[in-house]
Formats: sequence, structure tokens, C-alpha cells
Amino acid sequence: MRKIAVVYKSKRGSTKQYAQWIAEETGADLFDVDQCKGSDLSDYDTIVFGGWLRAGGLQGIEFLRKNMGTFCVKDVFAFAVGLNTDGIAARQECREINFKKELEDVPCYFLPGAYKPDEIKGGDKIIMGIMKKLMDNSNPELRDAIVNGADRVDRSEIKYIVDALK
Ligand SMILES: Cc1cc2nc3c(=O)[nH]c(=O)nc-3n(C[C@H](O)[C@H](O)[C@H](O)COP(=O)(O)O)c2cc1C
Repeated sequence: MRKIAVVYKSKRGSTKQYAQWIAEETGADLFDVDQCKGSDLSDYDTIVFGGWLRAGGLQGIEFLRKNMGTFCVKDVFAFAVGLNTDGIAARQECREINFKKELEDVPCYFLPGAYKPDEIKGGDKIIMGIMKKLMDNSNPELRDAIVNGADRVDRSEIKYIVDALK
């Protein structure tokens, strides 16, 4: 049986929730990226990295980039969690921004996240304020999520990742 590590970066819990569900369904071990070194993963055959999207940037992806050289004989997968309502476009955009050079061949899945405007502070609040101002009316669902919040976290969304890991 292959040994799988799920490494995640989460600020408010939704990415962590997905990472826990994936670990549960695949028998993987779970690691918080902030408490994990590349060398902690030397015994694993497969690494799954999950991070949340912040203004297009996949949080925590630096970990993969930095350690990719030592992972080269392993299978590496990634997932990005975000509010975007168009999963295909989100996945494409995430790939273009975050998966260059050494990460080019890493498959990345998009999973729908959660957002509560009342919990947002500091730099995150400023970014969301800018996003709100820049949004036109072409995507009312996303606009509503940014203004009023949304919770689209759904266990069934991990199906494709879990299938790929089998
Ligand atoms: C400052 C900020 C910027 C965000 N930027 C994006 C984005 O570019 N694309 C996206 O799909 N979601 C974006 N989101 C939504 C988050 O990715 C979403 O809330 C995610 O579920 C957070 O993950 P966490 O609960 O693990 O922290 C943003 C949220 C915040 C607070």
C-alpha cells in the first residue's frame, strides 16, 4: 500500500477540513505545512498539498517549490481552495499563477471554500475590499459571496482527488 502525506495550509479551517477528509478516505497522514519540514516526508510515496487562494496566490505553495527536488521520485498532487464559483476557470487561473517551472507537472484540483466577512481582518480585509470594488456584475454569485459570505465546503468535492490517489 502506498504511503500518502497530506500537507495543508489553512487560515480559517476550510482547507484543513478538506485535508482531513482526504486523509480519512485514503488512510494518509496529515501535516500542517507550518509545522512540517521536507525531510519529515522522506518515507512517503505520495504527497498531496492543499492551500487556500489569496488574490490568486496559493498559500503555502512555497513548501512544494522548495522541496520539489527531494520529492522527484514521488507522486505529487495539489488542491486549491477558494470562493470562485467557476471551478474550471479557477483551476486554470490557479495553474497559470502558481504552477510554473518545477511545479508544471503537478496536477491541481480546485475545491470550493468558505468565507465569513465578519471574521476578516488586517491585510485580508483590505484585499477583499479591493476585490469588492473591482467586481462587476458579471458573476452575481461570487459578488454575493464576497459581500455576504458563503459556505460551499462539501465533502463530495474530494471525490476526484481520492479517486486519483487510489
Ligand atoms: C484576502 C482574501 C483573498 C482571497 N482571494 C481569493 C482568490 O483569489 N480566489 C478564490 O477563489 N478565493 C479567494 N479567497 C477565498 C478563500 O480562498 C476562501 O475563503 C478559503 O475557503 C479560505 O480557506 P481557509 O478556510 O482554509 O483559510 C480569498 C479570501 C480572502 C480572505
